[in-house]
Amino acid sequence: MTDKRHHHHSRRAEFSSKFGVIMAAAGSAVGLGNIWKFPYITGVYGGAAFLFVYLAFIAAIGVPVMLSEFIIGRGARRNPFGAFRKLAPNSLWPFAGMMGIGAAFMILSYYGVVAGWSLEYIVRSLTDGFSGKSADELAADFTTFVESPVEPVIYQLLFMFMTGLIVFAGVKNGIEKGSKIMMPLLIFIVIILGIRSITLPGAGDGLKFFFKPDFSRLTWEGVLAALGHAFFSLSLGMGTLITYGSYISADTSLPRSAVQVSGLDTLISILAGLVIFPAVFAYGIEPGSGPGLVFITLPNVFVQMPGGYVFAILFFVLLTLAALTSAISILEVVVVYFHEELKIRRKVATVLATVVTGLLGVICSLSMGINKGQTFFGLNFFDLMDWISAYLLLPLGGLLITLFVGWRLGRRLVHAEISKGGHLSPAMLTVFMALIKIIAPIAIAIVFFKGINLL
Ligand code: PHE
Repeated sequence: MTDKRHHHHSRRAEFSSKFGVIMAAAGSAVGLGNIWKFPYITGVYGGAAFLFVYLAFIAAIGVPVMLSEFIIGRGARRNPFGAFRKLAPNSLWPFAGMMGIGAAFMILSYYGVVAGWSLEYIVRSLTDGFSGKSADELAADFTTFVESPVEPVIYQLLFMFMTGLIVFAGVKNGIEKGSKIMMPLLIFIVIILGIRSITLPGAGDGLKFFFKPDFSRLTWEGVLAALGHAFFSLSLGMGTLITYGSYISADTSLPRSAVQVSGLDTLISILAGLVIFPAVFAYGIEPGSGPGLVFITLPNVFVQMPGGYVFAILFFVLLTLAALTSAISILEVVVVYFHEELKIRRKVATVLATVVTGLLGVICSLSMGINKGQTFFGLNFFDLMDWISAYLLLPLGGLLITLFVGWRLGRRLVHAEISKGGHLSPAMLTVFMALIKIIAPIAIAIVFFKGINLL
């Protein structure tokens, strides 16, 4: 059986071990979303209440959608577009895959910009660039930097080059190997930073803000943000995990992998909150400061913290590693699509995809500064890419994925796929089917429409 499968698909790449699967998929999930975005939106939407809504979405919607993506991916062993076409020939379903590939372009373009900032902040912390500066000076430094037309563009392109290099090395020798090295390092760094932060005098207020909910502070906008972020953080809704699922071998349990990857991603977000909130409160700084939280507020913390020089370096290395293992997963979606659907050689496809997303990233970066005046629906190009992808395309993609697996593939096919390398009791299978057929689609639709004020 196994031999036959290997024979059939001998030309398609596969991850070499279960550990490799978890590290690669968790590498995709754990990214800027966990360390940059999660703490700042938790800060903006009021702390613990937001956290609890977010956790509920991860468990009830995130895990089932992730499992659905793995099922489509391993079931078809194709890129997202080709996977839908193979499983549902002569239908409109492949457009769901197409949408995901579009989302990949958009996300990677602004993702590389923020990752580039992080890269520059490694250099800045190595050269002791924060010390002796006031909060206002640190804020002004950040703004001057991101609005400059040259420096952030160079760092963004450098980051995209690193991303392209790993994907160029291939699924096993690039993505899997890279993730197996970078992820344990990342976990190690985040734990060290967490210990430093919660042992600061005055850290308790930060813990209270993060864990003691005040539901009166919760808004519908916050609920939409929690759902959108659950998708973003778990890398769902655009076919990243369809793509990685297509590299999972038949002896690996998909349900177990989905639970482990979601668990690891959530754990790292919580650890990131434990790094940031206690430190922010210990130094009497405002937690709701938005996207600048890790680039302005944290340096301000590092300046005052004993050992801040070293912890600053560790933090921005952490942020960059997290970004890199995610960026490779987004680039891979585009590369494997170019390769399998447009029949471009994989290495050529990698260069092409890196160059195109890199150039889109340049537009994003410039929209922070010299092109700031050019807005679409009141957003600059950078925010537009973020908004369309995180709040429209990912939830919509997730909705289509759950409907597809629930209604089109159906219980028998799902059962066959999740029984390989594992087992799900009939009761659990029923729960899963109910979640993806009815509960997740309705929840996504309500929160989505409510959020964009159509309801
Ligand atoms: N999950 C990644 C993060 O949290 C971002 C991402 C989104 C990656 C969608 C792939 C697909 O940073």
